[in-house]
Amino acid sequence: MDLRLCLFCLFCILLFHISTCSDDPDLNRSAVELIESRGFIAQVHTVTTEDNYQLTVHRIVNPLCSKGEPVLLQHGLLSSSVDFLINSPGVGNNLGFVLSSLCYDVWLSNSRGNVYSMDHLHLSSNDENFWKFSFDEMSKYDLPAFINYILKTTGYKKLSYIGFSQGTTQMFGLLSTNTSYSSIIKPFIALAPVTTISYTKSALVRVASDTPMLKDYLRSKGGPFVISDSTFQFIARTFCHSKIDLVCLNIIFLITGYDVREMNQTRLQVYFKHTPAGTSNWAIAHYLQMVKSGRFCKMDFGKEGNLARYGQTFPPDYPIDMIDSQDIALFYGLGDWLADRKDVELLKSRLKVPLKDDYAIPVDNWNHIDFIYAKDLGKYVNTRIVNILNEYWLR
Ligand SMILES: *[C@@H]1O[C@H](CO)[C@@H](O)[C@H](O)[C@H]1NC(C)=O
Ligand SMILES: *[C@@H]1O[C@H](CO)[C@@H](O)[C@H](O)[C@H]1NC(C)=O
Ligand SMILES: *[C@@H]1O[C@H](CO)[C@@H](O)[C@H](O)[C@H]1NC(C)=O
Repeated sequence: MDLRLCLFCLFCILLFHISTCSDDPDLNRSAVELIESRGFIAQVHTVTTEDNYQLTVHRIVNPLCSKGEPVLLQHGLLSSSVDFLINSPGVGNNLGFVLSSLCYDVWLSNSRGNVYSMDHLHLSSNDENFWKFSFDEMSKYDLPAFINYILKTTGYKKLSYIGFSQGTTQMFGLLSTNTSYSSIIKPFIALAPVTTISYTKSALVRVASDTPMLKDYLRSKGGPFVISDSTFQFIARTFCHSKIDLVCLNIIFLITGYDVREMNQTRLQVYFKHTPAGTSNWAIAHYLQMVKSGRFCKMDFGKEGNLARYGQTFPPDYPIDMIDSQDIALFYGLGDWLADRKDVELLKSRLKVPLKDDYAIPVDNWNHIDFIYAKDLGKYVNTRIVNILNEYWLR
């Protein structure tokens, strides 16, 4: 038999196996069910943004604790609050549970357009206007809404913020455009920080960003980002060749790559059930634009669109050098395809403030999604986060 055909069949068998054969009890659990299954109490809060999106925030309540200090955990692109709950159980791998066990008051936000945040006071998610957003709006509207809501509900004047990937893009955007958040966000821990994507090693991201038609298509089409099975198969065939590679099984892995040693393969199906969790075509287009432009700027709508929106032909930059917070900690992986080390260096050179922490995960191939799924997440990341938080809250 043709070797390629043979490998393709093996690939299909593997795909079939992965997509049908898990009896992991976490497989079908929602964020709330995950929280309750671990003995915590789950609260579901609805936060309304200035532009009328209604976003879901999950709060983990530890019945053994009284009042705790507020910590907001913000997921990345195509993900949800589940990111901080879904890693292999045990050994402190799930930041949500780690912090709640220590009596922190843990809030897990969901960005507009993901499965938990599909409501708007006046727009249905079938309306194309619902989907006219990228991280610009998440930064300008979603984050302030979450932050103000949590401060109001808890009575605290500051909170700790831990963002992953797009969760860091949003916060760098906010801190650079409104310095009043510097005295509120203490600290900002940035996992896999993304402000530029000039050096990405993801072949899919490179090719997609080099295809002007695709970016323009995503932008002019608008609407939710949906990837059909046939499109996915096409992409997988194009980028995986005939390799039997688990990276070919999910769009997230194709975008970010993954790290064999840190991935718990028996749990893949559980991860795939929760991700991709939805976003807009604009959100994807915006990142693709950044690969090409090398800039950290607002979304590019073309000359005329920019003039109408921004009063200038180019989209404005986010002024990273205006950030005055001295409470920023950067955590990054040396094998990250998306938040490449050189992009992180660029971010560091642009920040005019001393960093609270500048931490390269001491593992060769630590990749983007290792900040969510790595078997050693507790050991290399969560322990250090806890130390930083304890210092801030004088524990
Ligand atoms: C998850 O849901 C699917 C479809 O409803 C069902 O076939 C499967 O048995 C469930 N698995 C678990 C582990 O609950
Ligand atoms: C900055 O944020 C503060 C606190 O939420 C808010 O009161 C103020 O209006 C914001 N400033 C701008 C320019 O958006
Ligand atoms: C991998 O996932 C399985 C299924 O959830 C779990 O039983 C096992 O403990 C995990 N292994 C590691 C090393 O975390």
